[in-house]
Amino acid sequence: MSPAARREAPPAPDLPLDQVLQGDCLDLLPQLPAESVDLVFADPPYNLQLRQELWRPNNTRVEAVTDAWDQFPDLAAYDQFTREWLGACRRVLRPSGTLWVIGSYHNIYRVGAILMDLGFWILNDVVWVKTNPMPNFRGVRFTNAHETLLWAQKEKGAPYTFDHHAMKSLNEGLQMRSDWALPICSGRERLRLAGVKAHSTQKPEALLYRVLLASSSPGQVVLDPFFGTGTTGVAARRLGRHWIGIEREAAYVNLARRRLARVPAAALPPEALASLNPRSLPRIPFGALLEHGLLRPGTTLYFGPQGKTSARVLADGSLQAGTQRGSIHQVARALRRAPCNGWEVWYYRDPRTRRRQPINRLREKLRKRGYPGHPAPRAARPRRALTKGR
Ligand SMILES: C[S@@+](CC[C@H](N)C(=O)[O-])C[C@H]1O[C@@H](n2cnc3c(N)ncnc32)[C@H](O)[C@@H]1O
Repeated sequence: MSPAARREAPPAPDLPLDQVLQGDCLDLLPQLPAESVDLVFADPPYNLQLRQELWRPNNTRVEAVTDAWDQFPDLAAYDQFTREWLGACRRVLRPSGTLWVIGSYHNIYRVGAILMDLGFWILNDVVWVKTNPMPNFRGVRFTNAHETLLWAQKEKGAPYTFDHHAMKSLNEGLQMRSDWALPICSGRERLRLAGVKAHSTQKPEALLYRVLLASSSPGQVVLDPFFGTGTTGVAARRLGRHWIGIEREAAYVNLARRRLARVPAAALPPEALASLNPRSLPRIPFGALLEHGLLRPGTTLYFGPQGKTSARVLADGSLQAGTQRGSIHQVARALRRAPCNGWEVWYYRDPRTRRRQPINRLREKLRKRGYPGHPAPRAARPRRALTKGR
């Protein structure tokens, strides 16, 4: 099914939207309706198994993850817990849903194997490269400077949400790669109580912003079963997604609620919160510029904003450049001796300013008028899925 043809199903009426639920996710997840959530982001306990305190060379103590919530009697207990929460998340995910899990080398391999055993299909493993990692104070290993995010779909081959255009746009026109360089959460973003970190593993908002922008659409429901300080909720609120957070510790629940109350809701309409898929725009052939009087047969087009190479526009919408005759794309390709999009390389001379302008401007003009036979310019809609599982 074409991405644009898919209709977004509204959230189930009995979902506790935009709320922090206090309790154990193993108890609360079964109470949510089946197949009601579009995206899960999970930052589960790492099971770090730290046995001793860490000290810096200047004799200050490192605020490491030694919390009770990260303790498990043994690996078997951790695996059993992982199997249960992943299974419970799988039940609440829609068939088109996807799940992210973030972890370190302590747990991510175990989590990855279990989620594959449960039937999830891994789409990517993303490496979050920490630009300001904590040093290895004892100097006995490499500095641990990354965490891994697994991104998996519930059902192999099902359509799923991936806003490729948003990711490209966020990355200044280059395809977003699977290595993300982002700083750890620090400075003003880091929640502190009496000067001490309020939570040992608060994630950076930038990380969640990217995850949600890539893999959910405005209005969809994002669930975080290990909500902590509520970073997922913050990104969801900023991006106009619904969120549900589950957190066991009352102190973190309060912290997250207070934090979220301060975050303004998305200030843009839904269509501006997703990227524009160029393929969803009405296709306008170059000849339409002639038919609608935006260009005349015989007009000279220039190859690029400067330079001497030019072509003449013929009455049928083809171009003639020397001995080359063909579409704007064919002639451009022949001149460049490489694949290229004619809309991006041909320029006309604006009769008023005498300046060269890209022909794409004329196409935009026609689009704005509402090109005959096509609906008037459409609002941006998120691109829904695209790839078959490999
Ligand atoms: C790694 S932290 C998540 C931090 C969060 N991503 C943030 O940015 O603040 C894991 C959180 O899960 C909570 N937790 C652990 N086991 C839980 C369970 N069974 N159900 C619900 N929450 C749990 C912990 O209290 C902790 O706050």
